[in-house]
Amino acid sequence: MLLPDYYEFCCRVKLIAGHDALEKIPELLAAKGARKPLIITDKGVAGAGLVDIVSRAAGKLDPNLVNDSVPPDSDLKVVHELAKLYQENACDALIAVGGGSVMDTAKGVNIVVSENATDLMAFSGVGALKRPLKPLVAVPTTAGTGSEVTQVAVIKDHDKHLKMAFGSYFLLPDIAILDSRMTLTMPPFITAMTGMDAMSHAVEACYCLQKNPLSDAHALAAVSLLYAYLPQAVNNPSDRDARLSMAIGACLAGMAFSNSMVGLVHNLGHATGSVCGVPHGLCMAILLPYGLEYNLHKREEAIAGLLLSMAGPHIYKETPEEQRAQKVISLIRKLNDDLHAKTGGRHARSLSEVKDRDGKPAVPREALPQIAQAALLDGASVYNPEETDYEDNLMVLEAAWEGKPLDRAKVKKG
Ligand SMILES: NC(=O)c1ccc[n+]([C@@H]2O[C@H](COP(=O)([O-])OP(=O)(O)OC[C@H]3O[C@@H](n4cnc5c(N)ncnc54)[C@H](O)[C@@H]3O)[C@@H](O)[C@H]2O)c1
Ligand SMILES: [Fe+2]
Repeated sequence: MLLPDYYEFCCRVKLIAGHDALEKIPELLAAKGARKPLIITDKGVAGAGLVDIVSRAAGKLDPNLVNDSVPPDSDLKVVHELAKLYQENACDALIAVGGGSVMDTAKGVNIVVSENATDLMAFSGVGALKRPLKPLVAVPTTAGTGSEVTQVAVIKDHDKHLKMAFGSYFLLPDIAILDSRMTLTMPPFITAMTGMDAMSHAVEACYCLQKNPLSDAHALAAVSLLYAYLPQAVNNPSDRDARLSMAIGACLAGMAFSNSMVGLVHNLGHATGSVCGVPHGLCMAILLPYGLEYNLHKREEAIAGLLLSMAGPHIYKETPEEQRAQKVISLIRKLNDDLHAKTGGRHARSLSEVKDRDGKPAVPREALPQIAQAALLDGASVYNPEETDYEDNLMVLEAAWEGKPLDRAKVKKG
């Protein structure tokens, strides 16, 4: 593999991991000079008793400064409300206890309170922040987004049906705490889809345009852990070692993609989530094989290399070189099939299989043109190895809707 002429890699997050890592919180806050943190969470996480565990471990957290109003995919208005709460109570740090929706909300709140801003949108896009923010402690409760170590926040404007991205090294949390107690309560369906989000970060990191030797090292280590432990965590939710391994795999995948960026899978996935409200992880699981197929001719060697991390040296050696990349795609599809079976069908394998809360199809075929159009506005397309336009987006979405492999002969080679 040729080394890139230039690349950057940054992950200045203090990482604490273990079966009882949360007990470190008082010491960590004191080191940051913080006395009055605002704890941000959502109702699912609070209802699972996870904030109580954090509060007990942390000793003196003020129960009046716990807010559980974060909705799925975060929300612009909620960010502004929480920023007001922070300011009215003269808080001096943020603790995010939750999945990507909560951690990204906390990042948004941190922008508003640190910049003393009235509109978060003034900071959207990449590079708008110019100075450090307030101390942020991220406690992930899903093993998925890796937001605890990424320079990215994704926040939805529910009124406009748009997901907005924010990117800056200043968005990296100061501290990330990976504690196995935080993911033990995740039901199999959420474990499966958030785990496939992490897998999509690691895999896209391996083929996207900003990939480099450091992002590769993190991504390949992530693929090994996630591929080995995701089925175990779904089969046996109380397996603490599998949970911690998943948390570390998701974190490594976050470090990888935060530096190499993501591509088509996230590009189309963000648009599907915005237009049809499909959870991010489920979009990633469904679209991942298509991202691999679409980019195969540009990144065959990198994709083939994933086989070693997934299946080990014996299968890698036994598989003829020209079949290794295809074998990776088959193993990802097989993993999705297994997760489908283990979650009573909730882990959908095609866009047409996804159901909304009332059990009705969540992605009508007629919505595909709107999704293909919305994807044109998403920054992730910039880092995909092969170019994409509206027709390409629609072609991939059609295949993913039907659940059929992509007709690679139709991919325009740029
Ligand atoms: N910032 C980044 O780098 C980045 C990367 C990928 C995705 N994202 C964003 O993250 C969001 C998705 O985050 P997510 O996939 O972690 O899901 P989520 O935060 O939306 O949580 C999903 C559901 O799981 C519940 N839950 C979470 N942890 C639980 C636990 N331990 N036990 C029981 N229930 C639990 C929550 O209450 C919620 O109902 C999307 O908006 C996506 O765009 C951000
Ligand atoms: Fe993701």
